[in-house]
Amino acid sequence: MSRLSFHLPFIDNGPTADSITPMDWEDKYRTGETFWNKGAPSPPMKQYLERHAVRGRTLVPGCGHGHEVALAVQYGLDATGLDIAPTGVAAARALYPQLAERFVVGDLFHPPEPMRGVFDVVLEHTCMSGLPPTMRADYRRGIDLTLRRRGLLIGVWFINPDLAPGDEGPPFPFSLPDLTALFADGYAIVEDYVPEVSFAMRVGRERVRVLRRLG
Ligand SMILES: C[S@@+](CC[C@H](N)C(=O)[O-])C[C@H]1O[C@@H](n2cnc3c(N)ncnc32)[C@H](O)[C@@H]1O
Repeated sequence: MSRLSFHLPFIDNGPTADSITPMDWEDKYRTGETFWNKGAPSPPMKQYLERHAVRGRTLVPGCGHGHEVALAVQYGLDATGLDIAPTGVAAARALYPQLAERFVVGDLFHPPEPMRGVFDVVLEHTCMSGLPPTMRADYRRGIDLTLRRRGLLIGVWFINPDLAPGDEGPPFPFSLPDLTALFADGYAIVEDYVPEVSFAMRVGRERVRVLRRLG
């Protein structure tokens, strides 16, 4: 199994020269190695949307099979999913045919022109945690390019999960200080907590952090 697999082996000594090679997401979808896909929307994201009346145009970057897009629409958001992997987007359209037009193939790092500066909300769920550290600045730039000023970045962040052998988790450890540093300028933290609900294996390893882009 590739060391870039989303689960094992977990890289516990920090990224090495070859561990910073980007994942071939399209290949993962084509071969069905989509270990991250739980077949349902993120429980902490669902709980957040149940408890908060969030509205507006919403982007789900790295939407994969589209569960968070379907969740967002269910909670009244005008959501669009963006993913770089055409096979992932095709799977999302097949799973949610009534939402097919909401799934777009594209690169968050170079967002399509109609997506620039138009979103009131970005929902983050395991897009960031699949990226090597060298791409974190690109991720931040992608959020800056799509989220309007005063908009909300609502994230369920898979934080530095400290995996035991056999556990599943993101390939590149991403700590809370890393997250804080990535959005230190230009964003304010409006909510921050360890959720009470999570997928099995992610209990205690996720963090809900909501950031408001400053005007
Ligand atoms: C770990 S998967 C998570 C998928 C989905 N959020 C989920 O929880 O099932 C990361 C996703 O990000 C997508 N992705 C990676 N880099 C991207 C980029 N630059 N622009 C858009 N999508 C990207 C991948 O194709 C993949 O679907």
